[in-house]
Amino acid sequence: MVKPRRIEGYAIVSEDGMIADAHGVMPKSLEFEADKRFFERRLDAIDVVFHGRHSHEHQPNSDWRMRVVLTRRIVDIAADPSAENVFFWNPTGASLEDVLKTLGKPDAALGIIGGTEVFGLFLGHYSAFYLSRAPNLRLPGGRPVFPEVPAKTPEDVLKSHGLIAAAPHALDADKGLNVVGWHQPSEPKRF
Ligand SMILES: NC(=O)c1ccc[n+]([C@@H]2O[C@H](COP(=O)([O-])OP(=O)(O)OC[C@H]3O[C@@H](n4cnc5c(N)ncnc54)[C@H](OP(=O)(O)O)[C@@H]3O)[C@@H](O)[C@H]2O)c1
Repeated sequence: MVKPRRIEGYAIVSEDGMIADAHGVMPKSLEFEADKRFFERRLDAIDVVFHGRHSHEHQPNSDWRMRVVLTRRIVDIAADPSAENVFFWNPTGASLEDVLKTLGKPDAALGIIGGTEVFGLFLGHYSAFYLSRAPNLRLPGGRPVFPEVPAKTPEDVLKSHGLIAAAPHALDADKGLNVVGWHQPSEPKRF
């Protein structure tokens, strides 16, 4: 059976667990150089990035990366006619295994970069989820990291799917910016 080698998720959230504001826009107040460097380093070790149609990592290596964009505008899987390393995927019409077979990467390491529904789709399958938290920022009515937020905290959601938190890792101590790696119990708790 085709099975990805690893599935990692990454998000930076406000104190109330939002990845974007009430207009669906990620505000500058959620952007930090140290978090961008961390995100870039992690994605450089990933084989395929998965995201929804409104998300993108915007990094120097983005054009080289194999990418799967989730959309309901197609039935199952389709190659992007304008970029040879990009595929569109509708999970209702094709399984993750089908996508990885189509990509010719059956045991790839996957990086899940959002938004809300896409982060939610992989819950229960993450090897690790890296949650950065912007201090002193709230985005009421914003776009949550998981569909269950804000009824639950992001941490409660990760815990309820069997992940265990490592100690917070300071990305920028002066700004009070931390990332917490949430891991499967069998995984080493590292960054
Ligand atoms: N802070 C962070 O870490 C972070 C992370 C990611 C994104 N963001 C920000 O969040 C905002 C976007 O969030 P979002 O949740 O609206 O965007 P998104 O997931 O990037 O895009 C939503 C679109 O993706 C497709 N999609 C999502 N789930 C799907 C599913 N299960 N099956 C099929 N298609 C699916 C749909 O496209 P169709 O309409 O084509 O069907 C949907 O309209 C942006 O501002 C982005 O910058 C922030």
